[in-house]
Amino acid sequence: MANMSGNTDGIPEELRAKVDKHLEPFTLSLEKLKDISIRFKDEMKKGLGKTTHHKACVKMLPTFVRATPDGTEKGDFLALDLGGTNFRVLHVQVKEQKVVKMDSQSCAIPQEIMVGPGKQLFDHIAACLSKFLDTQNLKGKTLPLGFTFSFPCEQKEIDKSILIRWTKGFNCSGVEGKDVVKLLKMAIQRRGDFNIDSVAMVNDTVGTMMSCGYPDSNCEIGMIIGTGTNACYMEDIKNVQRVVGEDGQMCINTEWGGFGDDNALNDILTEIDFEVDRTSINPGVHTFEKMISGMYLGDIVCLMLKKLAEEKLLFKGQVSDALRTPGKFETKFLSDIEKPRSGLENAKRILNSLDLKWDLTDLHVVQLVCDTISKRSADLCAACLATLANRIRTNRGLEKLKTTVGVDGTVYRKHPNFSTKLEERVKELAPQCEISFLISEDGSGKGAAMVTAVAQRLARQSRLLDSDDDGDNS
Ligand code: GLC
Repeated sequence: MANMSGNTDGIPEELRAKVDKHLEPFTLSLEKLKDISIRFKDEMKKGLGKTTHHKACVKMLPTFVRATPDGTEKGDFLALDLGGTNFRVLHVQVKEQKVVKMDSQSCAIPQEIMVGPGKQLFDHIAACLSKFLDTQNLKGKTLPLGFTFSFPCEQKEIDKSILIRWTKGFNCSGVEGKDVVKLLKMAIQRRGDFNIDSVAMVNDTVGTMMSCGYPDSNCEIGMIIGTGTNACYMEDIKNVQRVVGEDGQMCINTEWGGFGDDNALNDILTEIDFEVDRTSINPGVHTFEKMISGMYLGDIVCLMLKKLAEEKLLFKGQVSDALRTPGKFETKFLSDIEKPRSGLENAKRILNSLDLKWDLTDLHVVQLVCDTISKRSADLCAACLATLANRIRTNRGLEKLKTTVGVDGTVYRKHPNFSTKLEERVKELAPQCEISFLISEDGSGKGAAMVTAVAQRLARQSRLLDSDDDGDNS
């Protein structure tokens, strides 16, 4: 049965039964979610294994972030944030257990740059950075830089990060397989009008986790549900077979968006999911992400509305040109339509803007569709998040785990009940974990600075240790 929440009443029983039939494949039972959670656990193991990781869809990428903040970090940093809806440059100060954003500037990345030659993308980034340094009077200073680059990267060190593949709307040529830090530095050298100090590469999930580390030292998971979706968590180094070392921890960027790329989720994929994948810029990859994140939710709903209209269950069988056009039904429409009080009014406005003729029953059906699709998204995130929390718990041999998830992303933040749906499901799926959720304030910007600051602290501490060793030996 499709979801029966309050705002989906108002549909005659017979029609409701027919609509439910179409929505059924999008409704996942608790048992099914438990099963998905087990599959994800196996995928994680594969991604961490020495001989299995190169075949894994869930990449489990080492990030070389070995510690969360301890409160002694300090300094002035630049941060770049590329990978969501905007590109941003920031100047950030870390002091007295606070991350203070001094200033920031957003730069648009035109569509032709998002899919053009990589050199052009990095020249654009360097140009934005140069402009920002001018306005901040920072050109003479050589500051360390944290680069939040929200794409799957094989990190060799904190400052060496090879792009595995573009995801979301990006597809610049000549970058996959290359070191992003090098490409950035080369673009800066080509300009020759400023310099940067050390660089730390950061995935947005990691920035989100790290930026929550001051208010809450239990924060060991970072999660994004925005344009894309992904999560990271602190793993015992001894389990990260690709990295040398036995002691301590390392943050792992799971890249859970790739879950299902080996057909492991085919039993829950619907015709509509296959169509979304087929018409995407990167068919065959990031299967899980395409069922969940903001880049795709609008299109999923749109295809379902089109299907129901074709079946004469909506809009008196009429399909407008807008409903046939991918991207016209925006993901933010789901949030507007599902709002508890203004939802129906918003639905009217949105359907009018899409040239659709509706009656009151249509409005309720549209609400039911949005509710079902966003619930599936929240359920799937919950299944994998529960797996992560349980993994941390069993790693530590604990009966109960208390942990915090730092979260960011437009879907989680802006949707009226996505977070509640997700949190309720996680409780059911990970009853032995007491999970709190903390919305990260500008994790991608401040978090990048924090990762850079922690890396500098660890380097400082290790230099001190080295000099102690020298002393012992002499
Ligand atoms: C995509 C990227 C991933 C990022 C996520 C959220 O899944 O591959 O690196 O963290 O989007 O932005």
